[in-house]
Amino acid sequence: MRKNIVAGNWKMNTTVGEGVELANEVAEALNNTPHNCEVVICVPFTHLVAVKAVVDTDTLGLGAENCSEHDKGAYTGEVSAEMVKSTGATHVILGHSERRLYFGENNEQLLTKTRKALANGLTPIFCVGEVLEERENGTYNDVVKGQVEALFELSPEDFSKIVVAYEPVWAIGTGKTATADQAQEMHAHIRNVIAEKYGKEIADNTSILYGGSCKPTNAKELFAKPDVDGGLIGGAALKADSFMGIVEAFN
Ligand code: PGA
Repeated sequence: MRKNIVAGNWKMNTTVGEGVELANEVAEALNNTPHNCEVVICVPFTHLVAVKAVVDTDTLGLGAENCSEHDKGAYTGEVSAEMVKSTGATHVILGHSERRLYFGENNEQLLTKTRKALANGLTPIFCVGEVLEERENGTYNDVVKGQVEALFELSPEDFSKIVVAYEPVWAIGTGKTATADQAQEMHAHIRNVIAEKYGKEIADNTSILYGGSCKPTNAKELFAKPDVDGGLIGGAALKADSFMGIVEAFN
């Protein structure tokens, strides 16, 4: 059966020193707290090697927040999936709405990035989600379906390695969480879309995380929904206390 996962997305926050301190705090808290989910922290590229040195990735997964669609060569400023993997990282966030909106990442590129991540043994945390206008004009189910379908060229074996994160863009960093019912409705929809393509077994085994202003105070209600298998956490992942409060929502 699918796993429950709480993943932190640090975005462009913390210096290396601050990041190592935060990772240490999370690792220590995890060792001292019984928990019923897999836990991952996704950190800036610059932090991966230093954070890997202080965490045991068997108990705390470590991810990047993006990777290149290219393998290597003359792509100044890019970081390949192979490079990410070589740091000891286990995961990579792909298709975050900030990448789609501010850096113009499209479905085709995201399929390529996903292939590169998988080829290098990284678990992609693949983000989908509608903007406010799409929520309000009622096209959100189709929009998210299209984003999930971008991966439908993957083999069933490859697709079964993906973690999906539903992050309504209007809820990210805004303090405006989707209600647990809105999240459940969309997660069930995503699972149906996957089932239609890959069958019920793969759909049932896919972890679908919710992201967007998830906090210790609302995590329990969200995670109680049958199709919500955890969270992708931005702001609340930047303090060990609040991140652990969300991890403990599964207890
Ligand atoms: P937030 O961000 O928790 O700060 O809303 C979530 C995300 O963007 O992954």
